[in-house]
Amino acid sequence: MFEFVKHLFKLQFLLIIAAVLAGVYYNQIVKWMVEKYVEPEGESLAVHYENDETQTPGERLFTRDDLAKFNGENNAPIYLAILGHVFDVTKGRKHYGPGCAYNFFVGRDASVSFVSGEFENYEDDKADDVVSLRPNDLISLENWQQFYNKDYTYVGKLIGRFYNGRGEPTTYYHKYKMLVQQAKLAKTQAEQLREIYPDCNIEWSVDRGSHVWCTRTSGGKERNWVGYPRQLFEIGANNFRCACVQEKDLDTTEVMLKEYENCDTLSHECYYHVD
Ligand code: HEM
Repeated sequence: MFEFVKHLFKLQFLLIIAAVLAGVYYNQIVKWMVEKYVEPEGESLAVHYENDETQTPGERLFTRDDLAKFNGENNAPIYLAILGHVFDVTKGRKHYGPGCAYNFFVGRDASVSFVSGEFENYEDDKADDVVSLRPNDLISLENWQQFYNKDYTYVGKLIGRFYNGRGEPTTYYHKYKMLVQQAKLAKTQAEQLREIYPDCNIEWSVDRGSHVWCTRTSGGKERNWVGYPRQLFEIGANNFRCACVQEKDLDTTEVMLKEYENCDTLSHECYYHVD
């Protein structure tokens, strides 16, 4: 009986110690559990593309301030970031070094400027905000990133818009990737449509306005038919383009076609004035 009471006291003592420690380290314990088990806010966005982001062992995570130090001053290495990926571009010092043409890109992520061509007017917190760029610009930007992957050394990721403090893609990154995928799809569809409905030839003169006409080679597509000029409205495009349409496709519902005003239905050329 005495032994049993002794054990009970020991157990109580251990429980008291555990409670005291839990109290002292409460904040650290909660932080550890949140990091381990709770999904970061906003990062559970369902993605419908293949996630090509893999964590490269040994890659470095940069804060903005870290990255800014790699500016080539006093022979320091030169780093730049594009879409959150950091590259060592020191071997391109003649382009990126202090005072050189592309020094603007150095020590920061100025992704927007790769397609806008504006090298001055962006505040730092907008310089990598790419999701409102036009679809084709998003594709060009990705091509720039591929250029750096091929020609320079990848060193890590910039913490901020595209990657969080653990180097994982953010919600913003997923949104950007979805937009690029949509842009590529739209581009492929537009190219396929150009095979079926090639562009017209176009010229303009002061007295006659715009002149559009079809030939067997207009739009750079060689074919055995000429076609009739029509205004073709593509989904998402602000304006129409002049397309050469075969007789069999004149009533298609695949795309929206409109005849030119004051032009014969079966004429191979039309004239029109833009107001
Ligand atoms: C959106 C506008 C532009 C951007 C973002 C841009 C960006 C760049 C970048 C980053 C490089 C360095 C490439 C490397 O690391 O090897 C470069 C090189 C170069 N760029 Fe531009 N550029 C732009 C427009 C222009 C224009 C308009 C011209 C000509 C009038 C031009 C002429 C050159 C030349 C000659 C080189 C050097 C090529 C070499 O020596 O290898 N760039 N450009």
